Amino acid sequence: MFTKVVKIREDYKIEESYLENSIIEEMGQAIKAGELVAFPTETVYGLGGNALDALAAAKIYEAKGRPSDNPLIIHIAKWEDIYRIGKEIPEKAKKLADAFWPGPLTMIVKKTDQVPLETTGGLDTVAVRLPSHLVAREIIKAAGGYVAAPSANRSGRPSPTLASHVIEDMEGRISYIVDGGEVGIGLESTIVDLTEEIPVILRPGSISLEMIREVIGATVMDLAIEEPMGEQSPKAPGMKYRHYAPSGSLEVVQGEEEAVIAYINRKCKEYSELGKVVGVLCSEETQEAYEGAVIKVIGSREDGASVAKGLYRVLRECDADGLEILYAESYHSMQMGQAIMNRLLKAAGHNIINVE
Ligand code: TXA
Ligand code: MG
Repeated sequence: MFTKVVKIREDYKIEESYLENSIIEEMGQAIKAGELVAFPTETVYGLGGNALDALAAAKIYEAKGRPSDNPLIIHIAKWEDIYRIGKEIPEKAKKLADAFWPGPLTMIVKKTDQVPLETTGGLDTVAVRLPSHLVAREIIKAAGGYVAAPSANRSGRPSPTLASHVIEDMEGRISYIVDGGEVGIGLESTIVDLTEEIPVILRPGSISLEMIREVIGATVMDLAIEEPMGEQSPKAPGMKYRHYAPSGSLEVVQGEEEAVIAYINRKCKEYSELGKVVGVLCSEETQEAYEGAVIKVIGSREDGASVAKGLYRVLRECDADGLEILYAESYHSMQMGQAIMNRLLKAAGHNIINVE
């Protein structure tokens, strides 16, 4: 299949950009016709298909190489549209929508029979999100209002934050890739399950547990996220798969900064002497402290959002550079720390060491 890449200006405005409007119309028609279109959202690039069409959903699983028990998020363009795909919508959903939609929050509610089981991986619940990215919203509208869009990566790879990442993973497998530049956030949306008596966060993101509690009160974090090595398996089917993993072996190091640096430098020396290509995933503040390795700066410790935005790009670069042994600093107590550590630890297969 030939994949057409189309560019959309980052400062796209509906009133002024006729060319963009016609591209968006074309993308909407393609999705309506059952084709797949990758497009930017504020979190990561999504791989869009008609959510109400079982065949389109099947195509998405095929293009991603994704297990078909892993449900898709349905993206909508306005609040009222939730009623066609969701039922018994709790008051808390409306409150969260008022506070955070459009934006990086996905809500799980009971599904109606308008939604094919292929889209929800056989579940009787559905994940819904109203993105804030203008291009995403306009494509959803043009496509008829209901677009299933998982992250536009091949299963197991880091989610794409640039169109070039989507091209790497999806060229030849889908009809169109809309290049709208780099995404703003860089990690996937927060997922909150509202079908439980007490809402549960299934995947941490830039909207934190505290922010959600402020709006709807009692909310808990899925135990399997808090204690990933425990008995419980995660409630979001997708969270159980090993994800984002670079091909090199990755260890996350935590402890006092000086001890972390000393440990990583010692390891770099050891492995370089064995002829291995070693990489260090660090921050702007510490990059000068490492030696004997390829240095990959993710972002600044002063600005958690910059770390969130850089993480997936850096994980992809590690593969492109052929790095065999990788060490990463940890990022606990900072803005988005929970979401960053969740993805980093998954990338490392929970290989973490404490140093003193
Ligand atoms: O930011 C995002 O949410 C991005 C952009 C493109 O919007 N999308 C995204 O989709 O991350 P995906 O498919 O890569 O991740 C969806 C996650 C999976 O872990 C899946 O298991 C979970 O949502 N999920 C979807 N429907 C669910 C449901 N009904 N119950 C529980 N988990 C669900
Ligand atoms: Mg994904």
